[in-house]
Amino acid sequence: MSNSLIVNQSLNLKGRVNSSGAKNAVLVEMAATLLADGVSILKNVPASEDVFNMSALLQDLGAKVDFDIISKTLKIDTTLVDSYQVTSERMKKMRASILVLGPLLAKFLRARVALPGGCTLGARPIDYHIKNFQKLGVQFLQNEDFLDAVVQKLNSRDLFLDYPSVGATENILMAATLTEGVTKIINAALEPEVLDLICMLQKMGASIKIQLPATIVIEGVSVLRPVTHEVVFDRLEAGSLLLAAAITGGSIYLPQADANILEGFLYKLVEMGHEIKTSNGIELIATSEPKAVSIKTHPYPGFPTDLQAHMMVAQCLAEGTSVVEETVYENRMLHAHELNRMGANIKVTGNSATVTGVKKLQGMQVLASDIRASCALVLAGLVAQGTTVVEGLHHFRRGYDALENKLKQLGADIYIGELSEKREDLIEKYN
Ligand code: EPU
Repeated sequence: MSNSLIVNQSLNLKGRVNSSGAKNAVLVEMAATLLADGVSILKNVPASEDVFNMSALLQDLGAKVDFDIISKTLKIDTTLVDSYQVTSERMKKMRASILVLGPLLAKFLRARVALPGGCTLGARPIDYHIKNFQKLGVQFLQNEDFLDAVVQKLNSRDLFLDYPSVGATENILMAATLTEGVTKIINAALEPEVLDLICMLQKMGASIKIQLPATIVIEGVSVLRPVTHEVVFDRLEAGSLLLAAAITGGSIYLPQADANILEGFLYKLVEMGHEIKTSNGIELIATSEPKAVSIKTHPYPGFPTDLQAHMMVAQCLAEGTSVVEETVYENRMLHAHELNRMGANIKVTGNSATVTGVKKLQGMQVLASDIRASCALVLAGLVAQGTTVVEGLHHFRRGYDALENKLKQLGADIYIGELSEKREDLIEKYN
């Protein structure tokens, strides 16, 4: 028996919710504390499983980590960090472990990291990281399990990313802060989480400028100091909550959410017919007759891939036909299969899906394939008739800070319970 999310139909969710800090900002910011010796403090840290995983990784390296879950404050003392090795146990748990590569190279001129495995989102290689570190002079030796990186001195230079990879931008950026001379990252990712990292690094004493349209210019300094930094709000949690209100025909107010950061996403909600107010935070009042809208995922400021699955739930119940094109990942449509089992009408062809609106979804036992799919299936459960059992609680826990409590606050009937069917039976049932 394993624990699952059990969701009973809960229409008309209503209320006001405070935002957590962004998981995808805090993970890289935790890695960035390695760039300075001493105690750094991160505030507004979500108590998600990945934060605990990254804490364990930093402890493996020799850091002292103290997380006060009540005040959401994470204290990281890097004074005694003396290891440059990330074990495969850590790497398997979380691909974001690769984000210590840049800081370790800057600090020790060496790093030994286990290779991140493939995952349900596709192969997810790290070639952009490797190729660009090689240009900075790093030599890589790879065996079956480990990647050894070593450099005598990091060399600054202009780098061009073939794709604006979030992780590659962050890794190179962090290493470049302590690299003598000027490093330029052309075609860099400029996700809000990358901008929040830049803000933190600047407070640490780094010299970083952004040149439009998408170049980051870093002038290396010889030393960085520890920092106190408040993590940016989680736009993906905010998007999930807005969609929870939208699909259940309710209303929601998120006082800490910054509408500028979610502009493209909010535009699509308005196109569906929902009312959005953005004078102070974000407020949504749902329409009772949502219309189909098409989306194409893109690096920021395009439609976020991390809200594609959630949006698909809204599209399932909208009038007309929506088209979803996933351009960031090669395999991020597994939730469509589960939604079809619940009564949706989705045809998946490669990385595109055609979603024809239906009148209702039916609750049943479903299996989440990744962090975002777990949340999307919870949203589907809120609007589906009867009870939905979402297996994959560990995915949900990795990405969100007790989001089920925020949904409860809005009136949702959701709790953690035991799975009634064996996982193997469940997988067999729809394979
Ligand atoms: N890619 C490569 N080679 C590389 C790096 C990336 O081919 O060296 C490909 C990936 O396979 C993927 C695409 O490029 O198809 C985008 O990858 P990117 O490097 O931009 O993503 P990431 O840094 O691995 C972060 C988030 C993801 C989010 C993506 C895109 C963190 C910890 N993770 O991943 O978040 O989907 O950016 O915005 O910041 C999630 O939170 O659920 C999640 C998956």
